[in-house]
Amino acid sequence: MKKLIIDTDPGIDDAMAIQMALNAQELDIMGLTTVFGNVNIDLTTSNALRILDLAGRNDIAVAKGAEHPLKTKFAGGVPFVHGDDGQGNTYKPASKSSAVELSASAFLVEHILRYPGEVTIAALGPLTNLAMALQMEPQIQQLVKEIVIMGGNAFCAGNATPAAEANMYSDPEAADIVFGADWSLTMVGLDVTHKTVLSKHDIAEISTSKTPLNRHVMEAYKFYQDFFKKANKMDGTYLHDASVIAYLLDRSLYQTAAYPIRVETSDCLGKGKVWPSDGASDQEERPALRPWRNRPLVNVCVDVNAKEVIDLVKSKLML
Ligand code: RIB
Ligand code: CA
Repeated sequence: MKKLIIDTDPGIDDAMAIQMALNAQELDIMGLTTVFGNVNIDLTTSNALRILDLAGRNDIAVAKGAEHPLKTKFAGGVPFVHGDDGQGNTYKPASKSSAVELSASAFLVEHILRYPGEVTIAALGPLTNLAMALQMEPQIQQLVKEIVIMGGNAFCAGNATPAAEANMYSDPEAADIVFGADWSLTMVGLDVTHKTVLSKHDIAEISTSKTPLNRHVMEAYKFYQDFFKKANKMDGTYLHDASVIAYLLDRSLYQTAAYPIRVETSDCLGKGKVWPSDGASDQEERPALRPWRNRPLVNVCVDVNAKEVIDLVKSKLML
């Protein structure tokens, strides 16, 4: 089994990804670390605790993480996408469980050091906790097994702005630090999640499964579907966070390419844009490529077998 920590900002699609991971026999979920993002840190943390309640998995620890981006203040999230409660305004009762004492970054460091080479991180929100963990203990770069993030847009438009994807836009400084670290990093970005659509028929089929957590996720999903109907004139939704779990379960469904990556951090129209370079940035005669020089290569997902991914997602949600 793959030891996995999910860093998350639930978030309706986060809830679906967590549900999929909990149902996957291949994955040993060591904990959820929460971060601001779709809604504030208190709500993402209470939502994470409630999701585990519904799954009967309060044995899994929740560690509360960053309230704000590294350099700015939380800007309010996206209640128009995920609801004021972050779960489609389903307003379920609070969990009786609490987060552990350790902060999210300390929880990440502690587990990576305890199980060198064994821990995988699935990051489904802004990368603030990962950046803070790296600053706390740089040697985790060599000791973590791999990191797979939902975020970024290498060769397509953004979703938070025309330039940038939401998780990277929420904390571009953290993203630039994470993309510049010397660890095994895979980016599952809009280049593939915008090619992976959960249709209204898929959603109806998933809704036939009546486990307590699936009933909740599908109830919340109505709000998420309404957003996509209004914003994108779609009957279904893109599959963002669950695509990371699909990648972890069967990476053969994704085509990848390796690039050094920088993230736009200046407060401009392009803030949060992920910039891969395919130029040979070590050539002296190309000083313009200096920002990419000596940056590690990131494994960027550039294409996907979307039908197979949807089938895999359904097989893990409909137990
Ligand atoms: O751009 C989509 C990402 O932003 C997803 O992780 C969603 O949950 C939001 O966090
Ligand atoms: Ca998310």
